[in-house]
Amino acid sequence: MKFDIRDINLADKGQLRIEWAKQSMPVLSLVKERFAEEQPLRGIKVSACLHVTTETANLMDTLKAGGAEVALCASNPLSTQDDAAASLVKHFGVPVFAIKGEDKETYYRHIESAIEFGPHITMDDGADTISVLHSQRRDLIPQVIAGTEETTTGVIRLKNMEKKGVLAYPVIAVNDAQTKHFFDNRYGTGQSTIDGILRATNLLLAGTRFVVCGYGWCGRGVAMRAKGMGSNVIVVETDPLRALEAVMDGYTVMRIAEAAKVGGIFVTVTGDIHVLRREHFLEMKEGAVICNSGHFNVEIDIDALEAMALSRRPIREFVEEYTLPNGRRINLLGEGRLINLASAEGHPASVMDMSFANQALSVEFAVKNRGRLEKKVYSVPEEIDSTIARLKLKAIGITIDELTEDQKKYLASWDMGT
Ligand SMILES: NC(=O)c1ccc[n+]([C@@H]2O[C@H](COP(=O)([O-])OP(=O)(O)OC[C@H]3O[C@@H](n4cnc5c(N)ncnc54)[C@H](O)[C@@H]3O)[C@@H](O)[C@H]2O)c1
Repeated sequence: MKFDIRDINLADKGQLRIEWAKQSMPVLSLVKERFAEEQPLRGIKVSACLHVTTETANLMDTLKAGGAEVALCASNPLSTQDDAAASLVKHFGVPVFAIKGEDKETYYRHIESAIEFGPHITMDDGADTISVLHSQRRDLIPQVIAGTEETTTGVIRLKNMEKKGVLAYPVIAVNDAQTKHFFDNRYGTGQSTIDGILRATNLLLAGTRFVVCGYGWCGRGVAMRAKGMGSNVIVVETDPLRALEAVMDGYTVMRIAEAAKVGGIFVTVTGDIHVLRREHFLEMKEGAVICNSGHFNVEIDIDALEAMALSRRPIREFVEEYTLPNGRRINLLGEGRLINLASAEGHPASVMDMSFANQALSVEFAVKNRGRLEKKVYSVPEEIDSTIARLKLKAIGITIDELTEDQKKYLASWDMGT
C-alpha cells in the first residue's frame, strides 16, 4: 500500500486518540454498525480530502465498514494530525497522503495521489479534489458517481461551478445540512478557534478587544465564546441583516477601518479575500494579534504584511512577529491558516459526530441514487438531517415532547382562531 505520512511510529498514540474521539461520536458509531451489516458501499472507492484528524479517522473507519475502499489526503497543509495519519495507515489500512506543515507543491501532489486510484465518490472540505479532477484529471471523471462537500467555502465554489455549467457530476452539500452548520460551524468553530488562539498565545482574553470579522455561522460561535471569556467583542460585517443581528446580540459593530485602531485580537471568518489588509495593519496597535478561521489563508493579506514589514521572527510556535515601518509589532498566528486546526485539534468530536454522520449517509444516498442525480449541488435530504438530530438527542439521553393529535390538527388548520 502506498502512503506518505510523517512517521509510522506515531501510530499507537494516534490509535488511542482515535478511540478517545470515538467515545464522543455515538451517531457515527450507529451508522458504522448498520453499514457493517448492510454493506451499502461495497465496491465503492472514495477519495477523501479532509482535515486529517482523529474524527476523520472514525469517518474513514465507518466508510470501510460499509464496504468502501478509501484513500485520504489533507484539505489544508497545516491541519494534519501526524499521529492520526500514522494510525490510519497502520491500524485501519487506509492509504494516507498528508504531513502537517507540507508545502504547497506536496499538498497538491498528495491530492493527486489520493485520486490516483480512480474514485467513485469524492469527499471534499474546500472542493480541492473536485477542482483538481476538473482541471487536471478529467479522464477520471466518467466513473465518478458523486461528490460530497463539507464546508461553506467549498459549497460556494461548487455553486459557482454549477452556475457556469462546468460541474461534471452531482455533489451533496453536507455543510448545508442543519445538523452540520448549526452545530459544527457555530459551536465547533466557536470553541476550537478560541482554543487555537489560547494554545498559540496563552493571552488573557478577559478585557481584550476581540474583533470578529464575519458574523455568519462560524463568526457567531467565535463571538459568543470570546464574550464568554470576558472579551469586549467587536463585530465587522458587510451584510446588513447579519450586522443587525450582531447589534441585537449585544456586540459593538463597526467598520474594519475603525476596528483596526482599537482591536487587540482579530479573527477573520468570512470565506472572503483580504479582509485584513495593508491599510489596516498600519492602524493596528502595538502587539495586535491577527488570525484566521475561515477555510483558505486568503482572508489576511499576508503578502502585503510581508512586503511592508522591516523584519519578522517566529516568537513562539505558531506565532510570527512582524515589525512594521511605524515601529509597531503585529503577531500573525498559524500562517493565516485555520487557527483551530493549526495550533489546536479542530472541532471537538461531539460536533464532528453529526457532520460526519451526514457525510457517511450522504455517500450512501449518492450510491443508492447512482445515475439518477443531475450535475448539480444537492442539499442533504431532510430525512437524513432529522434522523441525525433524533439519534444525537437519544445518544445524549434527552427526550422531547411529541405533538398531541389535537395539536397536529390545530397546526394543520387555517380556520381555527381564538
Ligand atoms: N475553522 C473551521 O474549522 C471552519 C469550520 C466551518 C467553516 N469554516 C469556514 O469559515 C468561513 C465562514 O463560514 P460560515 O459558515 O460562517 O459562512 P457564512 O456565509 O455563514 O458567514 C460568512 C459571513 O462573512 C461575511 N463577510 C463576507 N465578506 C466580509 C468582509 N469583507 N468583511 C466582513 N464580513 C464579511 C458575510 O456577510 C457572512 O455573514 C468559510 O470559509 C468556511 O468554509 C471554517
